[in-house]
Amino acid sequence: MRELVKIFDTTLRDGEQSPGATMNIAEKVRIAEQLEKLNVDIIEAGFPISSEGDFEAVKTISRTIKRSEVAALARTNPKDVDRAWEAVKGAKSPRLHIFVSTSDIHLKHQLKKSKEEVIRIAARSVARAKRYTPNIEFSAMDATRSDIDFLSAVMEAAVQSGATTINIPDTVGYAIPSEFGALIRTLRQKVRGIEKAILSVHCHNDLGLAVANSLVAVQNGARQVECTINGIGERAGNASLEEVVMAIRTRKDLLPFHTRVFPKHLFTTSRLVSKITGMAVQPNKAIVGANAFAHESGIHQDGILKEKLTYEIMTPESVGISKSSLVLGKLSGRHAFRERLKDLGYRLSTADLELAFRQFKQLADKKREIYDEDIESIVVEEILRVPRRFKLVYINVIAGNVTVPTATVQMEVDGQLMLEAGFGDGPVDATFKTIKKITRTKSKLLQFAINAITIGTEAQGEVTVKLEEKGQTVIGQGADTDVIVASTKAYINALNKMEFRKQKLVGM
Ligand code: KIV
Ligand code: ZN
Repeated sequence: MRELVKIFDTTLRDGEQSPGATMNIAEKVRIAEQLEKLNVDIIEAGFPISSEGDFEAVKTISRTIKRSEVAALARTNPKDVDRAWEAVKGAKSPRLHIFVSTSDIHLKHQLKKSKEEVIRIAARSVARAKRYTPNIEFSAMDATRSDIDFLSAVMEAAVQSGATTINIPDTVGYAIPSEFGALIRTLRQKVRGIEKAILSVHCHNDLGLAVANSLVAVQNGARQVECTINGIGERAGNASLEEVVMAIRTRKDLLPFHTRVFPKHLFTTSRLVSKITGMAVQPNKAIVGANAFAHESGIHQDGILKEKLTYEIMTPESVGISKSSLVLGKLSGRHAFRERLKDLGYRLSTADLELAFRQFKQLADKKREIYDEDIESIVVEEILRVPRRFKLVYINVIAGNVTVPTATVQMEVDGQLMLEAGFGDGPVDATFKTIKKITRTKSKLLQFAINAITIGTEAQGEVTVKLEEKGQTVIGQGADTDVIVASTKAYINALNKMEFRKQKLVGM
């Protein structure tokens, strides 16, 4: 039997640290459910002391998830550890994840603590966590820029105090594979008692080496990899889960290991995370990008038609990309719709199902063929939304090459009907300015992007907008066969998220 490499997913914690990728609790729970379906070993649900919202999210996810372990992050101080435990204690298999910096740079400029103090607090915090659970992970932040003797001493203290997983983060994505592999090897020889713990790695992608570093670490003894869906995360992101899993699966000759992940759910999971965070997946992204299995040149197409192995090292079906994603049409009924939702991994309440079905029927009136992506877009837009202060009633836009673009918008604001008209530099500009007038909001538009969800001219346009107000950024999304309506929905979605955020943040 091949040795197991545990997959520790941190999409909901490190992934959420991607600029603008904040998620509400319902969205986080939905992603956690999908990660469980994907069969990851551990889901890092959040950093409970960081905000009330994170605390609640970890608590709710802990109550929901049954098969995967649920981890909560904490610094070494007692308050952090207690708060993390409070949030995660309801989980079937809870894990406390404690971290402290170990590099001279961090100790001097950020922690302002001596090496002796760090060893002491590392040991003390693990011992405190041990009072709550035997399942403790300890991370030495900025490990790859740390003095090896000191790093070993901190790890030894953590193991002796009861840590069962020791994580070596390349926090700033600085290591290169040969060096990182050697570091893992050395630590395995140097740290007394390390064999009692599972060695883990957590690689950032600043030099584009996160996956390579994770794999070389596995070859040198790591048995847990921390990663995120689509590789999202702080700055350039983390190691991409789908790439790590498929590399281990595809190169069994050089990587004689296995993971428990079900690869056929990778594509759906990637789409879901992209939709919820508003972070598009680049077309040439390995495994889940739109072009990952597209063969363009004549020679390649010829080869593929003769024998897939000529240019494909894995099949699109193995990661859940099916060629026949056409699913439903105008005449499809509730039953077929519910079954399709189930296949896609959505279990909706009767009321939500009814709401989604109504939206589906409206869409089917405009668009002959409904694809999985269209259905996902309905669910994410209609069901997983934040509470809505602002609702669109109707929009009418006049635009063209010989007219001043004008938008007339009617909205409900706190239940009150409001009507306004306004001009702009184009139809979208006119619409956004009019909505701003109605809602009396001050957010600045940072980003606006349109994508076609499916194929053909009747495809739905999917719009993503990013707004900023007083240092807070939010992402809004909207989809419709009319791109102006999609833009309007995305803008209003972002405004509602900003309002929701304001209620949660004191002083904003
Ligand atoms: O990058 C890092 O060092 C982290 C730790 C908290 C594990 O995210
Ligand atoms: Zn990290």
